[in-house]
Amino acid sequence: MEPILKTINLTKTYDNHAAVNKINMSIGKGEIYGFLGPNGAGKTTAIRMMLGLVKPTSGEVEIFGEKISKNSFKAFERIGAIIETPGSYKNLTAYENLDIHRRLMGISAKSSIEETLDMVGLLEVRNRRVGKFSLGMKQRLGLARALLHQPDFLILDEPTNGLDPQGIKDIRHLLLDLVKQRDITILVSSHILSEIEQLATKIGIIHQGQLLEEMDMEQLRQKNRHYLDITVSNDQQAAFILQENLSIVDYTITELGKIRIYERMNEPMIINRTLVENGVDVAELVLNKGNLEQYFLQLTGGNAVV
Ligand SMILES: Nc1ncnc2c1ncn2[C@@H]1O[C@H](COP(=O)(O)OP(=O)(O)OP(=O)(O)O)[C@@H](O)[C@H]1O
Ligand SMILES: [Mg+2]
Repeated sequence: MEPILKTINLTKTYDNHAAVNKINMSIGKGEIYGFLGPNGAGKTTAIRMMLGLVKPTSGEVEIFGEKISKNSFKAFERIGAIIETPGSYKNLTAYENLDIHRRLMGISAKSSIEETLDMVGLLEVRNRRVGKFSLGMKQRLGLARALLHQPDFLILDEPTNGLDPQGIKDIRHLLLDLVKQRDITILVSSHILSEIEQLATKIGIIHQGQLLEEMDMEQLRQKNRHYLDITVSNDQQAAFILQENLSIVDYTITELGKIRIYERMNEPMIINRTLVENGVDVAELVLNKGNLEQYFLQLTGGNAVV
């Protein structure tokens, strides 16, 4: 199936410095794509190009199969977006702010305003002036504006910026519900791994303008599975015993005398005893909790993507 969004060698150069460097991204329908990278990685610049706000130095963006430029109005009608901290009219209420946006977007049903305010948890404060809103409330209002016209594709640049843990959780659930209830695709950027990890179905890691990795969340989890390394006197015999006596089939012999198992990791004593009782000496048992955080740190050369 044709992806919802595709970038082809997308590049933006400022003063001989590539803010975004030949990135090739692909987002399928119904996906929540986590766009992860530390400060200055190039996330906002890439997103600006997706929305036709910045012209690529080279390469291109395709959304809904159409090449994006600043005049791609048909595509933009189907996109809802937040970039950085969304602005609003401070002297007007939340309701009035959305009403202006409703008219700009040519949406006839006024009921869409209250429905959307309810979705983002602002219904009770709809008549309060936005100037008195907290940062978190402003973020929610931005999200409401992005959602008002029922877009097919949401592009959210750090939507949880400035939110407290409860606010972050609320937004996460809101996005997960949206994907369940509507036929929507979401791109969400963040510099916080744990946020993306709990939300995304696919992840793209950007660092210094380059897309270092793009893969399904499930693949990434597999890659970072926990395992137990066992150093033994005879790897072949040990493998046979593990399989026959403990039904362990998910293992590899990593080098001579070393077996890595991905099952029953919480039972090192049983594993040890079984091997020894069957004539295999065990020199060492080491549990490795392969974790995503370490993986990212390694990938981004120690730059904090946590
Ligand atoms: N208009 C501009 N002129 C010159 N340099 C720019 C411009 N916009 C962005 N840059 C540079 O491009 C690089 C990427 O910036 P960008 O804002 O895209 O990163 P980011 O991943 O969104 O970071 P953050 O997490 O801090 O929002 C940075 O080095 C930045 O200084
Ligand atoms: Mg940014």
